[in-house]
Amino acid sequence: MRFAHLIFPSLFIFALSTCAKRVGLKNHNGMRIPNVPNAEELMQKPVISRNGTQLPPYNTTYYFDQLIDHSDPSKGTFKQRFWHTYEFYEAGMKCLTLVSPSPEYIGYLTNVTSNGLLSQSQNGTTIVLEHRFFGLSNPLPSLTGENLRYLTLQQSIDDIEYFVKNVNLPMPGGDHLDAPWIMVGGSYSGALTSYTMDNKPGLFYAGYASSAPVQAMYDYWGYFEPIRENMPANCSADVEAVIEYITEVFEGGNTTSIQEIKDTFGVGSVQHLDDVAGVRSNLWDWQDMQPTTGPGAAFYNFCDALEVKNGTVASAGGWGLDYALAAWGAYWRSSYLETMCGGEDVGECLDSYDSTATYFTNTTIDNPYRSWNWILCNELSFSQSSPPPGIPALVSRIVQPEYDIRQCYYWYSDVFNAQNAPPMANGAAALSDQRYGGWNVSVDHLFFANGKRDPWREGTVSADGLNIPSTESQPILVSDGFHASDLIVDFGEADPSVGAVQQRALEVFATWLSEWKSI
Ligand SMILES: *[C@@H]1O[C@H](CO)[C@@H](O)[C@H](O)[C@H]1NC(C)=O
Ligand SMILES: *[C@@H]1O[C@H](CO)[C@@H](O)[C@H](O)[C@H]1NC(C)=O
Ligand SMILES: *[C@@H]1O[C@H](CO)[C@@H](O)[C@H](O)[C@H]1NC(C)=O
Ligand SMILES: *[C@@H]1O[C@H](CO)[C@@H](O)[C@H](O)[C@H]1NC(C)=O
Ligand SMILES: *[C@@H]1O[C@H](CO)[C@@H](O)[C@H](O)[C@H]1NC(C)=O
Ligand SMILES: *[C@@H]1O[C@H](CO)[C@@H](O)[C@H](O)[C@H]1NC(C)=O
Ligand SMILES: *[C@@H]1O[C@H](CO)[C@@H](O)[C@H](O)[C@H]1NC(C)=O
Ligand SMILES: *[C@@H]1O[C@H](CO)[C@@H](O)[C@H](O)[C@H]1NC(C)=O
Ligand SMILES: *[C@@H]1O[C@H](CO)[C@@H](O)[C@H](O)[C@H]1NC(C)=O
Repeated sequence: MRFAHLIFPSLFIFALSTCAKRVGLKNHNGMRIPNVPNAEELMQKPVISRNGTQLPPYNTTYYFDQLIDHSDPSKGTFKQRFWHTYEFYEAGMKCLTLVSPSPEYIGYLTNVTSNGLLSQSQNGTTIVLEHRFFGLSNPLPSLTGENLRYLTLQQSIDDIEYFVKNVNLPMPGGDHLDAPWIMVGGSYSGALTSYTMDNKPGLFYAGYASSAPVQAMYDYWGYFEPIRENMPANCSADVEAVIEYITEVFEGGNTTSIQEIKDTFGVGSVQHLDDVAGVRSNLWDWQDMQPTTGPGAAFYNFCDALEVKNGTVASAGGWGLDYALAAWGAYWRSSYLETMCGGEDVGECLDSYDSTATYFTNTTIDNPYRSWNWILCNELSFSQSSPPPGIPALVSRIVQPEYDIRQCYYWYSDVFNAQNAPPMANGAAALSDQRYGGWNVSVDHLFFANGKRDPWREGTVSADGLNIPSTESQPILVSDGFHASDLIVDFGEADPSVGAVQQRALEVFATWLSEWKSI
């Protein structure tokens, strides 16, 4: 290799927060990457380059003139936000990172994250780019259905291409760095990493997709499988027993016993039974777990409430239906309803049938949940529903994808109606052509990292029964981690299996990048 062919790695991370902290009404647990530990503290640190020069603080916001519509550039541009640092950059390297709608993700610039560490080890620059229609990167001034027509996977992929090809990075020589681009993403942005490499061959030299649910699914009941397999056995036994009973009673039509159950949970005033059965929040709390999660986490509190009776812990079989039902109900009445509804009237907070609720009608920007739902209603679905018969259920069989899809009409009432159904309404349509590869993706230099305890696992290339081989050009690593655990260095320290994946990633990228040739 000639000297001129020094390695020029670039790193491109794309992060997306879809976190909606409010409400029981929430009909979906979004894909999101972990928050960066101590991000606020990190932001205050002076940023020093390799030669000792002080650089702009991490939280300096930059703006890129992005096309509103890639199929019609005459529609003009909007300001797409990004954050960037070249603290680890050495002559000849360039690194691009993509997207985050939430300021805490600026921490993904730093080396407490896997992409930051990769950047450090490969002398790269790091960029975090905000996804269109998230945060303050909006092609149009509000989130109406009409405006959100410009929120498609293809437009988002095209954004990435246009950014990579046109950005003038705010650093010396930032418009002509001779360096390969790498894209790093976790969760949805991990899937987008895979989609982009499939859809834009050659744009990225390499990619890192963490916990990437690449296979879109209409009915994603598999969400609860990793939870069921990994939660305490007593807790899953009792949850299954209670859920089975609730389903039976709700389907049975005895209004007295139905009301008894509703009252047990403190939701006597909730009108629709599927709104009672549709609350999956206790299970969704699992997604907040990480290897460093200790006692006091919402999911543990839930299982403790069911399994610890007067100081005694249930054995693996649980306490059984009667006690578990009463204990779950008491937990809701004493604290969990407050967590979900924050004091709002419970009947309203859990009512998903009021299409006039501001929850559905507020089209103000910077509402990641609204933008994310648009993607689900149109292209990905991923409805977190009950499993098919024969598989133990942690959520009631009353919960079917239609429960989630129905709300698409309320969210985007200006575009969806009886004449114009949301694309997902006809079932099984979720990217049915898997036009970005899905599980069949096959590209060079794409590194997949998945976690056994990740509720999104069943959408990744490590889903049960798939047996997609890990190859040199497309390695697939699986840790005991949770959702995108491998993106955070601390999580790798807490769980050696996650640490091993992180270590392997550094090695693999070092090898790939050493083979990169400047053209
Ligand atoms: C960046 O962080 C510093 C330190 O916390 C703060 O004073 C400053 O206002 C922040 N700047 C922006 C643009 O958020
Ligand atoms: C140090 O690095 C900065 C940023 O890369 C650059 O602008 C500056 O010229 C460098 N100074 C020296 C003495 O190399
Ligand atoms: C991470 O980067 C900081 C500077 O931002 C540096 O002080 C620290 O040593 C780096 N950590 C590791 C593990 O290299
Ligand atoms: C990064 O830069 C340092 C200092 O110039 C150099 O010693 C090292 O070999 C570079 N690493 C890579 C992977 O290029
Ligand atoms: C309905 O449920 C109540 C309370 O569980 C029970 O007492 C009653 O017998 C049931 N009614 C019928 C018709 O089964
Ligand atoms: C709790 O356990 C103690 C000691 O075993 C017992 O005396 C007490 O009656 C129990 N309380 C309840 C409410 O079961
Ligand atoms: C039973 O539940 C407790 C409390 O959540 C948990 O700590 C324990 O590991 C569980 N034990 C078994 C055998 O499932
Ligand atoms: C509408 O949404 C915006 C952004 O999420 C929020 O700041 C505002 O408070 C909401 N307004 C109402 C009336 O709920
Ligand atoms: C993926 O590959 C399998 C086996 O070749 C094929 O049956 C399937 O149709 C492909 N799926 C998609 C979405 O292309």
